[in-house]
Amino acid sequence: MVKTVILISLVFLFVASQELCDMNLGGGICLFGGETVIMPLSTADNLVGHWTFDDNSCLDYSGSSNHCKSPGPAAPSRSSKGHSLNILEGQYIEIPHSSSFESKIFTMTFWLYMHKDPSDTGLRWCPIIHKGTDDEANLVYQRAPGIYYDREDKFLKVYVSTDEMIQFPQGEYAVSNARIPYYKWHHIAVVRTQSRIRLYVNGIIDAVNSTNGWTETNKNPFYVGNTPWTSENCPISMYLDDLKYYDNRELMEEEIEAEAFGALGAIEPYFIRLSCINCAYEEAVEACPDTHHICTSIELHSSGYAVARAMGWTDWNSHIWSTASTNTESDSSGLGICCLNLE
Ligand SMILES: *[C@@H]1O[C@H](CO)[C@@H](O)[C@H](O)[C@H]1NC(C)=O
Repeated sequence: MVKTVILISLVFLFVASQELCDMNLGGGICLFGGETVIMPLSTADNLVGHWTFDDNSCLDYSGSSNHCKSPGPAAPSRSSKGHSLNILEGQYIEIPHSSSFESKIFTMTFWLYMHKDPSDTGLRWCPIIHKGTDDEANLVYQRAPGIYYDREDKFLKVYVSTDEMIQFPQGEYAVSNARIPYYKWHHIAVVRTQSRIRLYVNGIIDAVNSTNGWTETNKNPFYVGNTPWTSENCPISMYLDDLKYYDNRELMEEEIEAEAFGALGAIEPYFIRLSCINCAYEEAVEACPDTHHICTSIELHSSGYAVARAMGWTDWNSHIWSTASTNTESDSSGLGICCLNLE
């Protein structure tokens, strides 16, 4: 009996890879007596989906065979190698559900390059990554997760469906402080912990919200770029690169910082933290972690302003606080940026 099951699953595996491949080998390929060896790529723990968009079949390089259903067109890559996924107005790709995507805890990371929106009709909030199906007619929403882009103000909103369905039918969520400027690559990381939604933009922790319920997973596909039900009302275009999904793993802050390096030029993400937007000076000082302080004006000029601009923290109502601020009357408010203590 066991033998039959193994045989059947082997046959199934063989058939599945047969569709994709003309030739199947059980091991690596050695050329010139082993001088050159072709082997599978290395994989991080619990990485069960890695779509590089460098091939023309939207393959998953995590080793979990979560290949896309149909590939999308190619666009310029974030690095000098390969390509990214070109999402044209309203288009999307689909990644079928598999048992790889069933944990209540997960991390997703990707690089995003938004195009300027040519139209001002349609929905304000549009999905760029969505796992699950929204049934608007019956008000049933599946978002594990749903990463939405604000076409008006360029914020991101991350939804996670939880078992608190009565209170949060569309899922619980976190909204970014960052606005995603056009025509620039941004690194985005969404970490769903047991009780929180954490959103990193360019390696900097940008928004965290606690949730009341547990993640409600679903067995529907991942949609990337748009969804079948929003495609018409969301004419957004973007490039997407290096999409990764970690099942049952919260990526650590250091790992996200390392992966996002380059998004802020040569500045390391750890150097800067957002304190608060439109808050009083004292509040801004309080909100910096122990490892950081409100940036001095030299620090602001050498990197703080550049990061604030790259992060789209641009909508503060008066000024950026610095330790040298002379204007600290309690009734004024501004943007607080924390810089790393260098000792
Ligand atoms: C956090 O979630 C609550 C609902 O639980 C919501 O009212 C609030 O706006 C959210 N905050 C952010 C910053 O997303």
